[in-house]
Amino acid sequence: MTTIPGIDLSGTGIDDVKIEHLVRGFYHKVRRDNRLGPIFEGRRGEDWEPHLLRMMDFWSSLMLSTGRYSGTPLQMHLGLGNVGPLEFERWLELFEETAVSVGGGAFASAFMNKANRIARSFQVAMAGIELNPGRR
Ligand code: HEM
Repeated sequence: MTTIPGIDLSGTGIDDVKIEHLVRGFYHKVRRDNRLGPIFEGRRGEDWEPHLLRMMDFWSSLMLSTGRYSGTPLQMHLGLGNVGPLEFERWLELFEETAVSVGGGAFASAFMNKANRIARSFQVAMAGIELNPGRR
């Protein structure tokens, strides 16, 4: 069993098939969401597949230690305008809703544990950039 410090993955049933369902289901909702849809649409136009594949690699690396993702996700978010606490709240809400429906409560908590921490660190970094625009 893969281990992540501080998270018990036993009984969560996480595998790459469920990760694919989670990522596809989540972005399906994001695209239709009034608050988040336009932010992604503005960036990606119609070509979502490369983003979805990177997100699957990202979550597979994080949750299953497969090492498939290498990137600097924070960088992608620093340039997004109009993204604040409400957008993050909605992102987390849709992500959790999708995770619960794909894999149930224990599965969803394992993902939310990571997602909440990353969302917080992105927000701190994004707020820091706004306060110190010259340091970008
Ligand atoms: C309001 C919240 C968020 C918004 C609006 C947002 C938006 C975006 C956008 C527009 C992209 C670029 C898509 C592209 O052009 O390829 C992106 C990439 C990405 N996001 Fe987010 N994001 C949010 C939160 C998060 C969170 C909480 C996580 C992690 C838990 C995350 C992980 C990633 C990753 C891994 C990438 C891909 C980076 C790469 O290509 O290497 N995002 N996001």
